[in-house]
Amino acid sequence: MHQNGTMTDSGDFDAAWLPGTAFRAVGARRSLVRSGPDPLADTVRGELADACARFGGEVVRDGGAAEFLLEVTGGSPDDESYTLRRADGITSLTAPSGRGLLYGLFHVVRLGEGAFSGDLAPRTHRPALATRMLDHWDNVAVHPVMGQVERGYAGGSLFWSDGEARGDLGRVRAYGRLLAACGINAVAVNNVNVHATEARLLTDRIGDVAAIAGALRPYGIRTHLAVSFAAPMLLGGPDTADPLDPAVRDWWARATARVYEAVPDFGGYVVKADSEGRPGPFAYGRSHADGANMLAAALEPHGGTVHWRAFVYDHRQDWRDRSTDRARAAYDHFTPLDGEFADNAVLQVKHGPMDFQVREPVSPLIGAMPDTRLAVELQVTQEYTGQQQHVCWLGPMWSEVLRFRPDGEVPVGRLADGLVAVSNAGDDRFWTGHPLAQANLYTFGRLTWDPAADPRAVLDEWIALTHPDAPDRLAGGLHAILDGSWRTYEKYTAPLGVGFMVQPGHHYGPGVDGYEYSPWGTYHFADRDGVGVDRSVATGTGFAGQYAEPWAKLYESPGTCPDELLLFFHHVPYGHVLHSGKTVIQHIYDTHFEGVEEAEEARRVWAGLSDLVEPERHARVAERFAEQLRGAREWRDQINSYFLRKSGVPDAHGRTIH
Ligand code: GCU
Repeated sequence: MHQNGTMTDSGDFDAAWLPGTAFRAVGARRSLVRSGPDPLADTVRGELADACARFGGEVVRDGGAAEFLLEVTGGSPDDESYTLRRADGITSLTAPSGRGLLYGLFHVVRLGEGAFSGDLAPRTHRPALATRMLDHWDNVAVHPVMGQVERGYAGGSLFWSDGEARGDLGRVRAYGRLLAACGINAVAVNNVNVHATEARLLTDRIGDVAAIAGALRPYGIRTHLAVSFAAPMLLGGPDTADPLDPAVRDWWARATARVYEAVPDFGGYVVKADSEGRPGPFAYGRSHADGANMLAAALEPHGGTVHWRAFVYDHRQDWRDRSTDRARAAYDHFTPLDGEFADNAVLQVKHGPMDFQVREPVSPLIGAMPDTRLAVELQVTQEYTGQQQHVCWLGPMWSEVLRFRPDGEVPVGRLADGLVAVSNAGDDRFWTGHPLAQANLYTFGRLTWDPAADPRAVLDEWIALTHPDAPDRLAGGLHAILDGSWRTYEKYTAPLGVGFMVQPGHHYGPGVDGYEYSPWGTYHFADRDGVGVDRSVATGTGFAGQYAEPWAKLYESPGTCPDELLLFFHHVPYGHVLHSGKTVIQHIYDTHFEGVEEAEEARRVWAGLSDLVEPERHARVAERFAEQLRGAREWRDQINSYFLRKSGVPDAHGRTIH
């Protein structure tokens, strides 16, 4: 192993942000854990014992002298808080539950020696959001088009392989451990597009789910399941899925009771209904509140929650129809239902009104339903942001979303009950295909714990944990590569918030007109005179009017709309002058040249770090950079030549446009 190596002892997969050496400070102490029977306190004891075996410390029995005192003080088992202090040479961690103790232990790991020197004034930490969840779009059976993991760029599923649950759950346990260390407490183990095999996880294959839940439980993670709204019809129940039909309700109640027999701490259901062809309540003339509430009623006696997705739009649009606007759809469908959802139903809303593009405004649905519980959905898997071939650290983007104040006052991070994201992890040795994409997973977790956190500070943590003892040059290099990588990606792909322009289907690589005349409603409307979508109230689709003030007014006019969202909200001539002082067309040329140069620079920085990173990790990233550069140049050339040909306006700097 390289001096900074972070492979696990087994060598099967990367230790990511929990290499053994990250536990050096903790493992060198005499520790004492006081707790009544509590499985998570047992996990903490096990962690300490492993660390001590490695670094010479000791887990002492009650009565022994200890420098690190950990205690479960008693309270709700769901209380995830902990209090850390250090005085008189003793570091003490107290928590009402084993859960809190576990999060506290990982906090101490992050602090390293800092947790064992000087004094620390008592401070209580608790997560800002109750639900901190990852959705896996994993198929049990390999899907003919989408494969094992829909939008998965890190090999196969951690849970499923070719129709079967994986027998060895050691890796799932290791995954749960990594997730707990960054704050995640819930995982949905199958794709929101629930196909026939996956539908059965709810019934005769619930044992598979129970096994996975068993591997995640020691790390405080509750397991959730994506279910098909048509499950009764698919699984031998009534031949309708009408949510108001008593037989259907009874079927769900009984199926759910059996789920809880197998998984007593089951988290609940995730549902994609009436969305991209999935079944839903519309077929029966029922509302989405009727649909969600039926499942909420089945879950309620057991303490479960239904996450009902708001990703409902018309995917059979006609591009000539300029009044139908996909961006409007979620708000139009759901706001009339505010106040109608059950207490254990959570509306899960994608952060943007479209679909995880590199730049979108925050969805106007967020904040528009004050009487409905809200979970905001992000996408850690980089479907539209380079598919883990390109380096694109999304921390700054998520942070912008979480800090956005829909009403001008309360930030998104405080409006939501939960944060959910589509996971980017798979059975790849490095978990995420691109080793640097681990930073996205870690950052997402830490932002769920504290949405107001500075993402750069989170990145510091990730760097320090992943590469303990890293010299400043490595940390500096990683910051240089990652800090601006989202903006770099934005620069060489679709400009000024217009979105898409990707190859249809797989969504990798440029396809400027790929979706332009398609039914999916993802248009840019470029012609010889201009580009962008008029979503103003005055002359466009009216989408801008879905926002509260100050945003509605700001987005309504091209004069006040922020440059980076201009083409999302407005159709403007190529000669339109941005706030930056550049014309739209010149901005397109300039950013595309710059984006490629920035990617080249990042690649150079990585090459210069080869003496500080284990060879396998270095080589994997280097390989990805080669593809990123190829891809970035392709994007630059396709976008620039498309707009040169459309507009006929030459580059002011006379550069060659291919
Ligand atoms: C995107 C993605 C799909 C996914 C869908 C969803 O459209 O391309 O693969 O199923 O989002 O979030 O449901």
